[in-house]
Amino acid sequence: GKYKVVIAGHLMPSALAAIQAQCEVRQWEQPGVPTLNQLGEWLQAAEGLLALPNIAVNAGLLAAAPKLRVIAQPAVGYDNIDIQACTDRKIPVANTPGVLVETTADLAFGLLLTAARRIHEGWAWVQAGKWPEAALPLGVDLYGKTLGIVGLGAIGAAVTRRARASGMKVIYNNRRQRSDDDLIGAEYCCFEELLATSDFIIVLTPLTLESRGLFAANEFARMKPTAYFINAARGAVVNTEALYNALVARQIAYAALDVTDPEPLPASHPLIKLPNILITPHIGSATRETRSRMALLAAENLLLGLAGKPLVTCVNNEVNYQ
Ligand code: GLV
Ligand code: GLV
Repeated sequence: GKYKVVIAGHLMPSALAAIQAQCEVRQWEQPGVPTLNQLGEWLQAAEGLLALPNIAVNAGLLAAAPKLRVIAQPAVGYDNIDIQACTDRKIPVANTPGVLVETTADLAFGLLLTAARRIHEGWAWVQAGKWPEAALPLGVDLYGKTLGIVGLGAIGAAVTRRARASGMKVIYNNRRQRSDDDLIGAEYCCFEELLATSDFIIVLTPLTLESRGLFAANEFARMKPTAYFINAARGAVVNTEALYNALVARQIAYAALDVTDPEPLPASHPLIKLPNILITPHIGSATRETRSRMALLAAENLLLGLAGKPLVTCVNNEVNYQ
């Protein structure tokens, strides 16, 4: 018979069709995130799960899904998934790295450029009919400035190319120095030095126990008062209240965020009222081409796992199928 699969939310039609061709699909189609209770009966029979980043795939969910053999998620991040619990159950988990690198780099660098040059504020100014009045507050140059990247992976390397094309110097901090960093064109430095010397900081590190709350009051206090802080990773890498305070006190100049904590950010959230912030609704990978590639790669991984074959982009390779 057909494989039984749960899809936890919206999926691009081409990927959905590929899965439906081989599987009996239960798909969550209502707005919002399904609870474990709402998925309960479906999970009981599920052999495959197409997860989404806003769903907690934890021990509780796994316990409710005794037949589960594979999990695939159309995202590079998988901080919502308890990987150890999956590995303990010998369930391979697939993410979708690679296919979203250039797209996410465009958004991260686009946030930097938009904030630096106040492009969004200029447009709002024109729409409000303020053009004839006094000029907009001035922006800042990119050329000759230092960009500090925290978490230099594939996306950071793609951001580095964009920054260097704009005449920026790029420094970075990772847990360990990359052996290929001279090829990438980024210079390794310690976290403290990166905070103190960067004109722009872009955060691209995955959310882990170590990176959760990495940017708090102390870190913002160490940055230049002219610093621009850009987060395109995960909201919880930043202590939101500390960022709010730093922006109000002008400890840093500006923030541009594609990810927030909480996410989504309620319209009443105080961060939204600040004059020195730009926020986008987690759209790092949100292009037609890339979302389609992500969905198809997730579907491919799901089907491979159901067939007992090795997943192509597996997070816990120690339990990947041989
Ligand atoms: C999006 O944030 C992703 O992890 O792909
Ligand atoms: C994405 O694939 C990254 O590792 O940055």
